[in-house]
Amino acid sequence: MLFSTITTALLFAASATAAALPRPAKPQYAPARNLNKIAKLFPQSALQAPGDLDLKYVVLGIGTQNYTCGSDESAAPGTTGAFATLYDIGTKLNDEAYAKWKIPSITPLALSLYEVAPGLVDMSLRLQGYEHITGHHFFADVEGANTPTFAFDKLSTPFPMTQVAKISNVSAPSYACPGKNGLPAVDWLYLQHKTGITQGGINTVYRVETAGGNKPATCKGMPATWEVKYAAQCKYTRNTHAARIVH
Ligand SMILES: *[C@@H]1O[C@H](CO)[C@@H](O)[C@H](O)[C@H]1NC(C)=O
Ligand SMILES: *[C@@H]1O[C@H](CO)[C@@H](O)[C@H](O)[C@H]1NC(C)=O
Repeated sequence: MLFSTITTALLFAASATAAALPRPAKPQYAPARNLNKIAKLFPQSALQAPGDLDLKYVVLGIGTQNYTCGSDESAAPGTTGAFATLYDIGTKLNDEAYAKWKIPSITPLALSLYEVAPGLVDMSLRLQGYEHITGHHFFADVEGANTPTFAFDKLSTPFPMTQVAKISNVSAPSYACPGKNGLPAVDWLYLQHKTGITQGGINTVYRVETAGGNKPATCKGMPATWEVKYAAQCKYTRNTHAARIVH
């Protein structure tokens, strides 16, 4: 009862202030539409080039890769999935003077802070102006298959989303930041929509500028399930016929 009274009083106060001081509504956040400037700054790799696709989004993914092991110590660990929060970094980077130098440094910095405390990396990204979380990366069941999914669920509906399969991979470059477990950063990937949902103008993802996230070659000494923290940038691209993503 007391709670509802206080709530009502606050609501009245808020509307009274709004009436006295009319202000234009805060513009809703929307990612940049043109990332042509930073599209040229991403490092070349042996992954198939995006060709005539336009770069649509660049996000920083921060989270975990999840692995499993059975009783066979000589077997390679299985990959059960990954979960990452996706921050829009492309919108601001596209207009930054230091973009070329920030592209290779954002992920290792993010991972090093994330290893200390997840709240620290969030604060650091916000202080640098990358405060918009656009969505999430996770694995979802598509007709019985555990499928990598990128969903920009913080954007307006129908939000951009794609469920992908790996087309190709290359080792992360020698400068890439290893994980806390000492293993080299996870591969760079070229992923494309194959099954499940694709909507909102994205169907291709590049996972690049990776840091951490890797598993050992075998299950020797490993638990049944574990997680390895990682960070990566994803780029999403499209052309006039189709949309693509780069992670
Ligand atoms: C991976 O680990 C995270 C963090 O514990 C968890 O939320 C997520 O459900 C796991 N995903 C899979 C596919 O196992
Ligand atoms: C691509 O990934 C596979 C499976 O993890 C691995 O065996 C192979 O060495 C990788 N290829 C390159 C070029 O890194």
